[in-house]
Amino acid sequence: MTSLSDPNADAILFGNRFVTQEVPSREFPDTGMPPVDAMRLVAEDLALEGDPARNLATFVTTWMEPEAQRIIAENLHRNFIDHAEYPRTAEIEQRCIRMLANLFNAPGETTGTSTQGSSEAILLGALSLKWHWRKRREAAGESTANPNLVFGGDVHVVWDKFCRYFDVEARVVPLQPGKYTIGPDDVRPHVDENTIGVAAVLGTTFTGHRDDIVGINNLLLEIKETRGLDVPMHVDGASGGFVWPFLYPDSPWDFRLEQVRSINVSGHKFGLVYPGIGWLIFRSKEDLAADLVFEENYLGKTDATFTLNFSTGSAMVLAQYYNLVRYGRAGYTYIMRNMQANADQLADKLDAMGRFELIGRDEEQLPLVAFRLAGDEGYNEFDIAWQLSAERGWMLPAYTLPPNAQDETIMRALVKETLGQSLVETLARDIAEACETLDQKGGLHHLDRQRVKTGTGY
Ligand SMILES: Cc1ncc(COP(=O)(O)O)c(C=O)c1O
Repeated sequence: MTSLSDPNADAILFGNRFVTQEVPSREFPDTGMPPVDAMRLVAEDLALEGDPARNLATFVTTWMEPEAQRIIAENLHRNFIDHAEYPRTAEIEQRCIRMLANLFNAPGETTGTSTQGSSEAILLGALSLKWHWRKRREAAGESTANPNLVFGGDVHVVWDKFCRYFDVEARVVPLQPGKYTIGPDDVRPHVDENTIGVAAVLGTTFTGHRDDIVGINNLLLEIKETRGLDVPMHVDGASGGFVWPFLYPDSPWDFRLEQVRSINVSGHKFGLVYPGIGWLIFRSKEDLAADLVFEENYLGKTDATFTLNFSTGSAMVLAQYYNLVRYGRAGYTYIMRNMQANADQLADKLDAMGRFELIGRDEEQLPLVAFRLAGDEGYNEFDIAWQLSAERGWMLPAYTLPPNAQDETIMRALVKETLGQSLVETLARDIAEACETLDQKGGLHHLDRQRVKTGTGY
């Protein structure tokens, strides 16, 4: 029988000893604990985590169908890279690549790869641009010492990361006050014989708009004709790659444009899969630099890999395939239109409050609302973000834009599948109430302001 004076026995019988003791956090634990205790310990920490459904900052999927979740749960034990052992998973990856190439209007046979997300896809795509450029230069007997890559200040940080990690000069076109994307006139002065490529964004992290991809394509065609330089374009469709084909099918940005040679898209954003899955798709097989593909003999079979990682999970590749066949074009179109309709509703409500200016609402945009205070209210957008979070737990980001628009602040609400019509109404009301509180009490104390999160969210 358990004794009242035996705390260990009581802990075994009644629960976790970490209820009253410090949790393991520095030293590798000498002893373990029963599984239920470990589960409770982790769950207790996670109780303090933000609620993804109220995270209006993230582009990443926060809800999937139960059937998709079942596929994920049933395939967590399969290592994706083991193509020899799991050939059907490898085949399913290839199916996804072919379907995405088809969605992006590839003219013929193509190639690509699944990745952890758009960041890995961008690093690989940009490496291919560099390898191709170097080969061209070597063949012409020219120097390969100073490669450069041209992109706007509206890109995600991974583009700067690529340049730093892989020794390429970043030729960044700065943004301007009121101008948050780039076009051909911005790109023209930066392109020369050392340009490995131009990166353009479809659905920027900052405002959800696209660069003038048609205009940049025309510029690159002109440069090819007049200067004999064949400069490829990579489109960063991390978010937009799964939005434009369904909301703006007649707006060309993909392989319909001749200079677009590679595209990345995050399956875990508007591809509607949980993190982490991304895709890199080439226009044609020739657009992937052959030297980057490793032929290896692994577990007795020759395999070709083009990744920065090796072992990784299969589950999200399978979940992506589930979504592609489950929704098809009709389903994705229906879901994207719903998100857009709810984003429009939220925009209307914010507009009607008379306090806010909506940013680029009439342009092609991701299903989100980007806005800022229209006048001087005695408080700012960071104060609203803080107040809204304190009152209702919404995570609505406020952030300043990259140079040279760094004096401009924006708020941005993603409208995803988890933000239905009634929650849109609640959110709008909560924003109005947060502003009313601030009307009465004024802006935040400077100590609070220092603690406001200022990132865009991803
Ligand atoms: C335009 C853009 N490119 C790249 C990325 C990086 O994507 P991932 O998080 O899938 O690596 C993001 C993330 O928000 C993005 O918005």
